[in-house]
Amino acid sequence: MKILVIGSGGREHALIWKLNQSSLVDEIFCAPGNAGIGKIAKNIDISYNNIDKLIEFCKNNNIDLTIVGPEAPLVEGIVDTFKENNLKIIGPAKHAAQLEGSKSFAKNFMKKYNIPTAKYDEVKTFKDAELAIEKYSYPVVIKADGLAAGKGVFICQNKNESLSTIKELLNDRKLGDAGNKIVIEEFLEGVETSILCFTDGETIVPMVNSQDHKRAFDNDEGPNTGGMGTYSPNYIYTEEITDKVEVEILEPTLEGIKKENMDYKGIIFIGLMITKNGPKVLEYNVRFGDPETQVVLPRLETDLIKIFEHIVDEKLNDIDIKWSKNHAVCVILASGGYPDKYKKGIAIEGLDNIDNDLLVFHSGTAEEENKIVTNGGRVIGVVGIGKNTIDARKKVYENIDKIQFNESFYRKDIGLK
Ligand code: AMP
Ligand code: GLY
Repeated sequence: MKILVIGSGGREHALIWKLNQSSLVDEIFCAPGNAGIGKIAKNIDISYNNIDKLIEFCKNNNIDLTIVGPEAPLVEGIVDTFKENNLKIIGPAKHAAQLEGSKSFAKNFMKKYNIPTAKYDEVKTFKDAELAIEKYSYPVVIKADGLAAGKGVFICQNKNESLSTIKELLNDRKLGDAGNKIVIEEFLEGVETSILCFTDGETIVPMVNSQDHKRAFDNDEGPNTGGMGTYSPNYIYTEEITDKVEVEILEPTLEGIKKENMDYKGIIFIGLMITKNGPKVLEYNVRFGDPETQVVLPRLETDLIKIFEHIVDEKLNDIDIKWSKNHAVCVILASGGYPDKYKKGIAIEGLDNIDNDLLVFHSGTAEEENKIVTNGGRVIGVVGIGKNTIDARKKVYENIDKIQFNESFYRKDIGLK
């Protein structure tokens, strides 16, 4: 089979690394890819938002299956357009992708199908927001409705802060159309965890759970990022929680997907808060997580292409998906200044010095004159696999300093929470 993966991050590097293990795969292309991906697949110079060009590429190169990494093309409707062109693709159609593309759509879906989540109000004007905010205690969560690349959620400590955040979004249009509507939400206390699932629209199958670390610095300090490190599994995800999530969240989510006639053949990623009143949904994402994928896929024992084929054929129920009992830890090396301003084009040294039993997934790298240089905020993910989290994290931290570039930083506490 010939495969196209769309995206350019560590998630896509991990996906391609896994797909390469399948005997069913002949050739993998990645649009646009990165320097690490270029070593194990063919990078093609098409942006992930250029759907017409991607379709032309698939037709000209007889691509058998396309897998979409990032949310933006899914929310744009890439799946619908591919299907109109008789091209096979993994991902939800545009209607279903609103589960990530619109916070109010997702909240209304959860409400309709009785899925535990934080109480909320949806407002379009400052006046309505002023009224709604009176119902909440502090801190309160303010969310821009649309996609905002991880920058659309604000945890506000008092009324003044809330109103100025609301004004910036609705009136000053700080995030543009993403802030046409906002969701005001009750603040949930607890431990966050992520659960990625495969679905063919008829069956939903959770993968092993994983734990992201969103804040930039140790002890969960500093600004929110796309994710500075992950580990899998997380002790918080006990058997009791697993069963509760199955009955209270996965089953009604699937019921909603069916009843709303959503065309959903792909990945659904559920961000959970495990509260003292049980697990509640923080958000849905309609794709693999980054860097969750980097710790989940190394634990997958089943051929990923076979799983994707079962999804496309709506036969997910017929495949037994196996996971290793190993633990995995991923630590992200980031560019100084991330998630705000950072430099690009800095030479990266020492990539080949990492011990053989670790995995190195490139997040934001490029190749310039045969040198690998930084090309993003998150640059490299180093993944250790071990018999427990302590063992896996020890391997990562014994190796990570071998990779060096100016102004790099990483969290030293991944796997400790
Ligand atoms: P989201 O993009 O909706 O997952 O929000 C980003 C991050 O904001 C989450 O990973 C949480 O850390 C935090 N967050 C979002 N909603 C809530 C909430 N209702 N209560 C507490 N924290 C939240
Ligand atoms: N790591 C969080 C995400 O992929 O959205």
